[in-house]
Amino acid sequence: MAKPVTGFSKKTKAEKIDWLSKTYLNNNPEAVQTLQQYWNEDSKLQKLHDDFIENTLSNYYLPFGVAPNFLINGSLYALPMVIEESSVVAAASNAAKFWLNRGGFKAQVLSTQKNGQVHVDYFGNEQDIVSFFSEVKPKLIESVSTIQKNMKKRGGGLLDIELVSKTESLDGYYQLHCTFETLDAMGANFINSCLEQIAKTFEAEADSFESFKANDTFPEVVMSILSNYVPECLVQAKVTCNVAELAQKDVSGEDFAQKFVRAVQIAKTEPRRAVTHNKGIMNGIDALILATGNDFRAVEAGVHAFASKNGTYTSLTDAKIEGNLFTFSIEIPLAIGTIGGLTNLHPLTKFAFELLQKPNAKELMELVAVAGLAQNFAAIRSLVTTGIQKGHMKMHLMNILNQMNSSENEKKQAVAHFNDNTVSHSAVIEYIEQLRS
Ligand code: MEV
Repeated sequence: MAKPVTGFSKKTKAEKIDWLSKTYLNNNPEAVQTLQQYWNEDSKLQKLHDDFIENTLSNYYLPFGVAPNFLINGSLYALPMVIEESSVVAAASNAAKFWLNRGGFKAQVLSTQKNGQVHVDYFGNEQDIVSFFSEVKPKLIESVSTIQKNMKKRGGGLLDIELVSKTESLDGYYQLHCTFETLDAMGANFINSCLEQIAKTFEAEADSFESFKANDTFPEVVMSILSNYVPECLVQAKVTCNVAELAQKDVSGEDFAQKFVRAVQIAKTEPRRAVTHNKGIMNGIDALILATGNDFRAVEAGVHAFASKNGTYTSLTDAKIEGNLFTFSIEIPLAIGTIGGLTNLHPLTKFAFELLQKPNAKELMELVAVAGLAQNFAAIRSLVTTGIQKGHMKMHLMNILNQMNSSENEKKQAVAHFNDNTVSHSAVIEYIEQLRS
């Protein structure tokens, strides 16, 4: 059995690999070669990656692809996408192409407010904490003036602080609910620094507040942290066209539109379907979020919380037919940035921003919402017509061929063969084995 290691983070990369290799990998040289094969030859670039996190051993590559022909608010974009799932970029490109000749995507930011809380315990008289808060509020705001100097200059900063009683849900629980405008930054560090300073000032001032002293009962800060739930930081995207323009190969526009709307209604009512439906939306969103160096865990957490804001998990998209008009839309919360964090550090995120014509945070919110809507359109379109496996397995074919170490010639023949034949794992294996015999 392995023994605990001390001072692991202080070891050099070679020492760490050596320890892991001896402890867990039977000194297998191939395991070490696998790590080394993904090191970057450019030592400066490798050092950049090594410094992103602690204990970096190697780099984990994901494909960086692009989906062109996205007409969004009248401009044409090629969306960078980082994702491992075979069919996602192809699906996005198909949806982009489909809407290119039908007016494109329209997107708009509805609000940009972020928030965080100082969570407080207080078991005294409620009126005392209310009086204390109204007295100390200007000092709390003043205490973050240095932290928010630059943000204020740019037009953002702390917007307000409210004392909220949560004692009906949890005995003695209050919060200082703080709202922020962080402009082009996602703002996590800025918000957390402000909250921690507000918490310190709050506790220090409470020590000398007469009513607290008289009852020997003081508020105590439990923790201070931003919220990744940002329903006041919203973006909307939609597509519209005449129902007749939706006609598919063997399906009339009307039949397609009705089936499509029905599919969305099912996702609206049935959480089991809604989760998969929204997962498909996140295929597009996460891929663009990753390509632009934003925090996909924050986005995922916030989006899914929003999907259950009314108490039941539901679809993030809506579809309707009004007269002859088909409309498909999405509304989601997104706290993302185009400055700070990894955005201007990772060479590929820099490239992604250049490709996107250097959007500001609001423009990026619009692009991300469109990526989600497009992905959902492509998924539902397949689901209500051919089913998803046809396109999915076609894209997955190359993975199966690579698993079989197929030669370029075998791949070429297999692609031609499976143009007219159904792809399945066993069918591909059988085909290649037959070629080889
Ligand atoms: C697969 O990654 C995503 C889908 O399952 C989404 C959906 O069902 O809507 C195709």
